[in-house]
Amino acid sequence: MNGILYFSATGNSLQIAKAVQGRFGGKIIYIPKYQGNVSEFDRIFIVTPIYSYGMPVHVYDLLPRLDKSKEIIVLQNYGGMAAGADYLLYQYAKKQGLNIKSVYKLKMPENFTLTFTVPKFYLNKALKTSQKRINKILDMIENKKYILPKKQKTREQKYLTNKSNWHLIGRDFKANENCVKCQKCISVCPVGNISLVDGKIVFGDKCVACLGCYHRCPQKAIEYKGRKKKFRYINPNIDESEIGKDI
Ligand SMILES: Cc1cc2nc3c(=O)[nH]c(=O)nc-3n(C[C@H](O)[C@H](O)[C@H](O)COP(=O)(O)O)c2cc1C
Repeated sequence: MNGILYFSATGNSLQIAKAVQGRFGGKIIYIPKYQGNVSEFDRIFIVTPIYSYGMPVHVYDLLPRLDKSKEIIVLQNYGGMAAGADYLLYQYAKKQGLNIKSVYKLKMPENFTLTFTVPKFYLNKALKTSQKRINKILDMIENKKYILPKKQKTREQKYLTNKSNWHLIGRDFKANENCVKCQKCISVCPVGNISLVDGKIVFGDKCVACLGCYHRCPQKAIEYKGRKKKFRYINPNIDESEIGKDI
């Protein structure tokens, strides 16, 4: 059976993981909850967003513990600029001795929107064409057209610096007066960084900057640095309640 391991905050990676499952079968597994080393699967897919030209913390932490004998196919997705994120992941995985068969990257809607708003036109275009791009990659996998990233300039230093600072971003979030204490932010946070203390939503210092709380708050009550922005994003091609679940 295929193991389809994914990380997703706003559903883009889940859309891709579901398409992989639809084409090749297998079990979809949410990386933050997964304790295994994939030895129970025949083939591994890793579906992940690109963060800061690199990997989310959970994917970075997952790779060193994976079974080295398994074939791994990686599907990275990004909002605007992937730079050398595929090469960076490939190099890092090779250092761990992993058997990376192929690394694909594809554009999906941007969710790092703390400081700007994606114009509706671009968002809709990215969404409308997303399934086509996903299918193209699935065809490549089916036809064994594997891609290993060629040596290219990565932004490794920038990635590592940002990665080491992500936990600090929690300090810049606040639940404003629109918060109804539904505690959804608490349940979607992949690291348990949010809690209800004395009737108030409180952010700790374990944030991994996925922005799940920010985008998925039903009241749009989570603010970043006091900015009154209205734009939030959840991929409409999936059932939001499935983000974070094994399927
Ligand atoms: C912390 C963070 C960093 C990001 N860095 C990049 C980046 O370097 N390049 C890029 O094109 N998109 C970047 N993005 C956008 C996501 O990669 C993209 O929107 C992805 O499809 C989101 O996947 P998800 O919906 O499964 O969470 C970033 C998003 C976050 C939250």
